Amino acid sequence: SAAEPNTLRTPIVAVLGHVDHGKTTLLDKIRGSAVSEGEAGAITQHIGATAVPLETVSEMAGSLVDPSDFDLPGLLFIDTPGHHSFTTLRSRGGALADIAIVVVDVNDGFQPQTIEALDILKRTGTPFVVAANKIDTTPGWNPHEGAPIQQTYEKQSQNASQRLDSNLYEIIGNLSDEGFSADLYWRVQNFQKNVGVVPISAITSEGIPDLLAVLMGLSQRYMKEQMEIDVAGPGAGTVLEVKDERGFGTTLDVVLYDGTIAEDDTVVVGGMDGPIVTDVRALLQPRPNAEIRTEKRFNKVDSVTAASGIKIAAPDLELAMAGAPIRVVRDRELDDVIAEVEAEL
Ligand code: GTP
Ligand code: MG
Repeated sequence: SAAEPNTLRTPIVAVLGHVDHGKTTLLDKIRGSAVSEGEAGAITQHIGATAVPLETVSEMAGSLVDPSDFDLPGLLFIDTPGHHSFTTLRSRGGALADIAIVVVDVNDGFQPQTIEALDILKRTGTPFVVAANKIDTTPGWNPHEGAPIQQTYEKQSQNASQRLDSNLYEIIGNLSDEGFSADLYWRVQNFQKNVGVVPISAITSEGIPDLLAVLMGLSQRYMKEQMEIDVAGPGAGTVLEVKDERGFGTTLDVVLYDGTIAEDDTVVVGGMDGPIVTDVRALLQPRPNAEIRTEKRFNKVDSVTAASGIKIAAPDLELAMAGAPIRVVRDRELDDVIAEVEAEL
């Protein structure tokens, strides 16, 4: 039976993979933005977060996602950098994830940070799907904007479909070398045992309906228990970035993964000289489908429930650290919460 509304939190979906394999472009396509184009050298240098509502998911996925089949509110996507120098950020993004997408350029195949991403997911035991991206660059490819993969695949020449097949089987073989039993997603019966590979193009949107359907299905079927949180409980999150914001002073971009945070809540956050205790002055929420990293117009809200990306303004945040935990104290002993934060630093 369907759960009570608003008792399930949004699944956190980390997007991982080698540099330039198309993680940010994929998210741009899903949320209708152009973040990748604004990046210096198209290199992502920070972790991002974007809340994509169920309506947007089902609009993109067309007939493959019927919103009435789901009682999850949507998906919170975490973008991560693929450049080799950002290992810490990838681990941080991976650690936040309930589920992940490993993006692999179908022509470029497995690369060092592809393997690094798989190692992170192995370590954290996070279920994932592989998006075999850039299928539109297959020689002779005849694109069908926004089509599910089977539909566009059937319309390709034998040459093009064979080129794609051989690239896909190489990826499946590489996954097997890394210890994962994988197959094209429509052949996978049990997504807990086998990794599904979804061929997509982040430019033509081909296969993106399939990718979203697989993500929603995985979240709903296998992770519902994990999503049933005490929404009224004290908020817990991870700091993505510490930033100066005009009119607010030093602020924190946070991924809240549990409970609720409200204005005036006392919070403990990890800092360079140890835990910082402060009171929330303002909660600034990005609009739906907006990347917190680039958002300019935040909505001031009284409280936020997990999972969300949220900008927090509070006094005394100058020494707060990216990657540090943040905890709402609520009716707990302050010393206990400080100890909890200290243990995670
Ligand atoms: P990092 O964040 O630096 O790791 O890179 P990224 O994985 O986010 O790659 P990004 O989305 O910035 O894309 C890199 C380049 O590949 C850009 O020029 C994109 O336009 C291009 N690209 C991404 N996806 C596709 C695709 O499906 N087809 C084609 N033809 N180009 C793509
Ligand atoms: Mg990127």
